[in-house]
Amino acid sequence: MESALEIENLSLSISGKKILDDISLKLERGSFAALCGRNGAGKSQLLRCMKGLRKPDEGRILIGGIEAGEKDRMKKCALVFQNAQMQIVSQSVEKDIAFGPENLGLDRAEVERRVAYALHLMGLEDKAKQRPQTLSGGEMRKCAIAGILAMEPDVIFMDEPFANLDYPSTLTVIRSLITLHEKGYTILVVSHEAEKFLAHTDTLFIMEDGKLKEAGDSQKLFSQLSDYDIYLPSGASFGDLTWLKR
Ligand SMILES: Nc1ncnc2c1ncn2[C@@H]1O[C@H](COP(=O)(O)OP(=O)(O)OP(=O)(O)O)[C@@H](O)[C@H]1O
Ligand SMILES: [Mg+2]
Repeated sequence: MESALEIENLSLSISGKKILDDISLKLERGSFAALCGRNGAGKSQLLRCMKGLRKPDEGRILIGGIEAGEKDRMKKCALVFQNAQMQIVSQSVEKDIAFGPENLGLDRAEVERRVAYALHLMGLEDKAKQRPQTLSGGEMRKCAIAGILAMEPDVIFMDEPFANLDYPSTLTVIRSLITLHEKGYTILVVSHEAEKFLAHTDTLFIMEDGKLKEAGDSQKLFSQLSDYDIYLPSGASFGDLTWLKR
């Protein structure tokens, strides 16, 4: 399988403390992966390094098999932050989605095509003219996702996409993730809430103390989450790990 993203021996220290310790991993193209680990394990810092927001001390990052520098990764990797509101900058949903492609310097027709596509994929057509500040939590997150889709990224990272969402909004985001996966996007979701979506993933990474401890097929690995003090409903089978079936 072709890899969308590869990390080789990545390490990062902040103020003399090792935050990421010799991490190597491979994300197959089109895969839907989960990255789990306790508070402070280094998940968000790893996303920041992959995205190009932070320069690691050591290691290489490859996209599509080719080494990619920070600038390149900023363009090819999209990151949806935990606080989706932080990513909203405009007065209407459609203007907000247009913001990224406009900044890429694309012509108007291309911007409009991308905005229409992102609105459609996220099911936000009827919200296009609405002020983003008036969206529900789930809609806000969909708007943030639509904004990054319009940039046509190679890889999508999401940090805690279910945080602060109620039940219907959580379902909305899970469905959006499944749609993106079906469309062939490569997705890596960082979450403490494996029980909400893991059944839909194919790959699982587990981090602890800055190290990548486990990597592989979600279905084969999921039962090991509890070894890392990560909550799983007792007796749950892999297929139970979704809120879509509740
Ligand atoms: N600027 C900084 N200075 C010092 N330590 C930092 C800094 N930024 C992050 N860290 C430390 O890096 C470690 C990893 O942080 P990170 O945010 O990646 O954890 P995480 O796995 O995302 O945790 P959570 O699940 O709580 O979001 C933590 O111990 C954190 O305190
Ligand atoms: Mg984090």
